[in-house]
Amino acid sequence: MTEEEKGLSRRKMIGYGWIAATAIVIGELIGGTLAFLWPKVRGGKAEKLLIAGKVDDFPVGKVVLFRKEKVFINRMDKGFLAFSAICTHLRCIVRWTEAKNVFECPCHGAKFNAVGEVLEGPPPRPMDIYPIEIVEDKIVVDTNRAIQRKKFNRSQLVSA
Ligand code: FES
Repeated sequence: MTEEEKGLSRRKMIGYGWIAATAIVIGELIGGTLAFLWPKVRGGKAEKLLIAGKVDDFPVGKVVLFRKEKVFINRMDKGFLAFSAICTHLRCIVRWTEAKNVFECPCHGAKFNAVGEVLEGPPPRPMDIYPIEIVEDKIVVDTNRAIQRKKFNRSQLVSA
């Protein structure tokens, strides 16, 4: 191989290297642009809607736990409330004790009444609630946003 052929070969290699590097940069730019324009849909808002069941599936005075979603639904004579089961003290999961008509937290002994107000213990506020809509006779709970409140009032009830 002559010196001229070696030089040509080196020049060709460098040229191919530049072409490859340029192709990678352009590919990244196109890929990034496409990913920006068509982002993957993951964990969308619709995934956090709990369709709890039909209105008549909830007898008045009954508290129902949706364990996976950590949501309690309480149907009272004036309407529905959906509570977060997460204690407002240090986020333990509360349980409904039907015999006493209270929510109880196993961690530090808090008790909440049937509308989520603190009866005793360290929680700084009532149990958080979720917005409810009644759509085609079904209870739909928007678990995307827990609503903090200072106390219970009747406007928080959703009537069927
Ligand atoms: S976490 Fe519930 S009382 Fe402390």
